[in-house]
Amino acid sequence: MLQALIFDLDGVITDTAHLHFTAWRSVAAELGITIDEEVNQSLKGISRMASLECILQVGGKAGLFSEAEKEVIAARKNQRYVELLGSLGPGSILPGIAPLLEELRARGIGIGLASASLNAPGILQALGLAAMFDYCADASRVAHSKPDPGIFLAACAGLGVTPSRCIGVEDAQAGIAAINASGMVSIGIGATLRDADLRLNSTEELTWRRIAGLMDLTDRATSVRR
Ligand code: BG6
Ligand code: MG
Repeated sequence: MLQALIFDLDGVITDTAHLHFTAWRSVAAELGITIDEEVNQSLKGISRMASLECILQVGGKAGLFSEAEKEVIAARKNQRYVELLGSLGPGSILPGIAPLLEELRARGIGIGLASASLNAPGILQALGLAAMFDYCADASRVAHSKPDPGIFLAACAGLGVTPSRCIGVEDAQAGIAAINASGMVSIGIGATLRDADLRLNSTEELTWRRIAGLMDLTDRATSVRR
């Protein structure tokens, strides 16, 4: 029996990657660093400070800033990102997500959030989805970020569910690794993802029928192994 679906936020519930990119690009430019779409891809799913370290590395400036200076740079990026979030509304929910959440709710299946973003509560509010989530794990209280399973395990604990009875949905490779390490079943959204139990091209394909089918297969594989 499926107990809960636990979602990543950025790239699964709404597409904020371009807003993160715009904010990071302007902050990086002020440091004399140019970042392209390939760098942006590598920032998906990783924390704000880990993103900054990655950008400094790309620009050959790793180790040049103190912790306090890095905090200031990260805060500047976040200020710009939060300004850009002002454009989000219910129309920014990715296709298929709103009807799926309704269906899960009607079936009594738990709905959780496991996002690395410290802006997650504000984003869910802006999308008008806050009330749909039974539990949102708090990234600031989790010791290690994805690919560590900590945030998904925190969401399972908050929902009071068993990881092996839950599905995690992610658009980042680090996120798929985190779900797999947590013992949950993984669904990846995106053409280039590896190692997901089910890989889909877009959230439109994330239907109840596919989710139920995946859980059936997992149940059968588990009973064959027993
Ligand atoms: C993840 C994004 O969801 O959240 C990353 O994929 C981002 O790109 C991370 O860096 C942290 O977000 P925030 O809002 O706390 O800076
Ligand atoms: Mg994501």
